Amino acid sequence: MELKEVLKNAKDRLYSTCKICKECNGVYCAGSVPGMGGAGTGEAFKHSYNTLKNIKLNLKTIHDAKDPNLKTNFLGVDLDLPFISAPVTGSKVNFGGYLTEEEYVNSVVSGSLKSGTIAMIGDSGDPSFYIDGLKAIKDKNGIAIIKPRENDEIIKRIKMAEDVNALAVGIDLDGAGLVTMRLFNQYVGPKTKEDLIEIINSTKLPVILKGIMSVEEALIAKEVGAKAIVVSNHGGRVLNHTKAPCEVLPKIKEALKDDDIIIIADGNVREGCDMLKYLALGADIVLAARPIIWGAVGGQDEGVSLIIDNMRNELYKSMILTGCKNLKSINSSVIS
Ligand SMILES: Cc1cc2nc3c(=O)[nH]c(=O)nc-3n(C[C@H](O)[C@H](O)[C@H](O)COP(=O)(O)O)c2cc1C
Repeated sequence: MELKEVLKNAKDRLYSTCKICKECNGVYCAGSVPGMGGAGTGEAFKHSYNTLKNIKLNLKTIHDAKDPNLKTNFLGVDLDLPFISAPVTGSKVNFGGYLTEEEYVNSVVSGSLKSGTIAMIGDSGDPSFYIDGLKAIKDKNGIAIIKPRENDEIIKRIKMAEDVNALAVGIDLDGAGLVTMRLFNQYVGPKTKEDLIEIINSTKLPVILKGIMSVEEALIAKEVGAKAIVVSNHGGRVLNHTKAPCEVLPKIKEALKDDDIIIIADGNVREGCDMLKYLALGADIVLAARPIIWGAVGGQDEGVSLIIDNMRNELYKSMILTGCKNLKSINSSVIS
C-alpha cells in the first residue's frame, strides 16, 4: 500500500467529516465538534495553523549533519523518532464510524509500534471507549489519557491502566468543559493543585498533564510532580480563540529550563517540517491526531505506519537541510 492510496481511501471513507484539504487549516471543518474541526468559528484551530505556518526554517547546507539521528528515549522506551500518536476517541461521532472504536485504537497502537513509536489512547463520555483503548495498549507501552473526571473516577481508571501495564497515564485537563461528556452525564471539571497531588500520589506510573497553555500552569505541573506536560489546546476543539500551542511553547520551555519534566506539544503537525519547528521551539516530543486518523481510516495499521514513516523521512530531510545532527542539536537557531 502507498501513502497516496491511504489518503484517497481516507477521503472517501471520512464522508464529509474531513476533506483532507491540501492545507489542513480548519476552514472547511470550522465548528465541527463533534467532527474533525475546531470549536465555534474554528478560530483556535485556524490561528494555530497560521501561527505555525508563519514560523520559517533557516536553510543551511555547509555543515556535517550528513546522517541525522532521530532516536530518542521516552520514559525508558526507545523511540525511532520524537513522535507519539495522540489520544483520539469517538470514531463514529467525530469521523463517520468507518472503523469501530476498537478497530481505530488497534490500528493506531499497531501502526505506531510498526514505525518505532508508541500511542496514547483517550477517554470519553462512552466508558467503553476507554476500555477499548486499554485492551489495545495492553503490554504495549501505551499511555492512557483520562478525562478530568472526579478524582475517584480518575484513580479508578489509573488502576485499570496499571493492570494493562501502561507506560504512563495522563489527564487531558483541557477537557474540563467538554459538552460531549455532559451529554453522557459524566462529570468533568477543572482540578485544584490538591486534586492533582492526590492523583499523582495514587500511582507509581508517571503522570502526564495534557492541555497546559501557560507558564503558570506549567510551573504548577512541575510543582505537583507531573513527569510530562502536553502543551496543547486540544486541536482547537475545546475553547475558541485560544493562543496557539507553538506560540506559548517557548516561554514554557524557558520557565521549565532543563528540568526533569518532559515537554510534549501538539497542534497542526502535518509534516516533518512542523515537527522540526516544535522541537526548535522547545518540545522534546511531538504528537499529532488528525493525520493519524487519516492513516487509520485509509489503511488501518499500515496506513498509520505510512503516515508516521513519511513524517520521519521528512524530519530527517529537514534536519539535513537545517544542519541538525541529532535532536539535541535542534534549537531556536533553526527557525526565524
Ligand atoms: C476527532 C478527535 C478526537 C479527539 N479525542 C481526544 C481524546 O479523547 N482525548 C484527548 O486527550 N485528546 C483528544 N483529541 C485531541 C488530540 O489528542 C490532540 O491534542 C489534537 O487533536 C492535536 O492536534 P492535531 O489534530 O492538529 O494534530 C482529539 C482530537 C480529535 C481531532
